[in-house]
Amino acid sequence: MMSGLVGGGRMGVLWKLEPATAAKHRLYQRYLDAWWPILLQTSQKTGYSRPRVTLLDAFAGPGRYEDGEAGSPVFILDRLLHHHAVDRMNLSPQRVHLVFIEKDRARHDHLLAELRSRFGTLKDLPVRVEVRRGEAGRDSLPILDELGAWGHPILGIFDSWGSVNVPLDVMSRIARNKSSEVITTFGPNWFSRREELNADILDTVFGGRSFWTPAADELRPDERWRVWLQTFRDALRRAGFGYQLHFKLEPRTGQPLYLVFGTGSSKGLEAMKDAMWKVDDRDGESFRDPRNRGVEADGQLDIFQLAELSNPELLELVGQRLAIGPTTVEEIGNWLLTETARWMPKHALKAAREMVQSGSVSLASPGRLTSKSRVILSAPVRS
Ligand SMILES: C[S@@+](CC[C@H](N)C(=O)[O-])C[C@H]1O[C@@H](n2cnc3c(N)ncnc32)[C@H](O)[C@@H]1O
Repeated sequence: MMSGLVGGGRMGVLWKLEPATAAKHRLYQRYLDAWWPILLQTSQKTGYSRPRVTLLDAFAGPGRYEDGEAGSPVFILDRLLHHHAVDRMNLSPQRVHLVFIEKDRARHDHLLAELRSRFGTLKDLPVRVEVRRGEAGRDSLPILDELGAWGHPILGIFDSWGSVNVPLDVMSRIARNKSSEVITTFGPNWFSRREELNADILDTVFGGRSFWTPAADELRPDERWRVWLQTFRDALRRAGFGYQLHFKLEPRTGQPLYLVFGTGSSKGLEAMKDAMWKVDDRDGESFRDPRNRGVEADGQLDIFQLAELSNPELLELVGQRLAIGPTTVEEIGNWLLTETARWMPKHALKAAREMVQSGSVSLASPGRLTSKSRVILSAPVRS
C-alpha cells in the first residue's frame, strides 16, 4: 500500500492516484476556485487590490501520477491561469507567488520538467512560480522570507503522506500572518504506527510532549484517528488559527485520508465547507465528522435531500450539541459551523424543526420555531 511503500523508501518517482487523493484534489480545486478571486480581485467598492498573495505547496510531489493525472502543482497553476475571473485578478509575477517544495531529487526534477512541458518557460508566466528542492519543515519559513510573503495572505498546503514533520512554529508563523490559512493532510497509516513515532519530531509538530502522548496512548483502533486528528486540531488552535476543521475523507474504495484546515476567518471556514458541498462525489466519497460514531454520513445526502429530511449525521450532531445544554437555534448554527466537519448555520433550523416534530427536542417557550428560539433536548436522538 502507498504509504507503506513510501515508509520503506521503495516507491518510484511516480505512483498511482488513489481514490482518496483524487477526492482531495477535487476539494482543493473547488476551494482554490473560490480562494483566488476572493484574494486577488480588486474590490469594486474601494478599488483596493492586495499587493501580494502566496500559495505554498510544501510537499509538492512530482506533478503527475502514473496514469497521467495532474499532481497538485500542475492543477493549481492550470486552474489559476484558466480561472473564469482571471481577467479581473490582475496577475503579475510581483503579486502572485506559487511556491512548490519537494524533498526528493527525482520528483523535484520531474515536477520542474512537467511544469515546463505544460506551461512553457516558467519565467514567462504571469505569476511567479518557484520550484525548490528542500524540506518542508526546515525550508518553508526561509523561502517565505525570501519571497517577501509576510504581511500578505498565504495559503500553506502541507500534504505529507505520513511523516508529518512540520514544526508547529511554521504553522504559528502562518497563523499569525494576515489572512492566512493552512491545509494539512495525514495518510492512512499515520494513526496506527505508535511504535514508529519519533518522540522528538512529534514534540515539535505538536508543540510539546504533553500535548500528544494521550493520543499515542489511545489503544482502541477506531478511536486512534479521532484522537490524533483532534490533537492536531488543538495544535492548530494553539498555533493561533481561530477556526479549525478536521475530517476524514473516506472514498468508497481504498484507504481514507485525513484533513485538518486552519483559518483565521469564519469566511474561510464557510468557503471550505462550501467546497465540500460542491465537490461532486464521483466515487461516493464522504467527509466523515470525527464526532460521528456510527450513523450513516454522506453518500446518502441526495436521498435525504429529495425527501426533505435532514441527514442522520446532522440530527446526531445537533443532539450532541443539545446534550451539553439548551441553546438557541442560531447558536446551534454557529456551533455547526465551527465544530462540525461540513454542516453550516443554515442547517440548524431545518434540523431543529424536524427534531421538534419528532419529539426529540422541545421549545423552551411557546411560539413559532425561529432562529431565536431556545430549544431543549427532550429525548435521546434516534438516528
Ligand atoms: C503526498 S505526496 C504529495 C502529493 C501532491 N501534493 C499532490 O497532491 O499531487 C508527498 C510528497 O512529499 C515529498 N516529501 C516527503 N518528505 C518531504 C519533506 N520533508 N519536504 C518536502 N517534500 C517532502 C514526497 O517525496 C512526495 O513527493
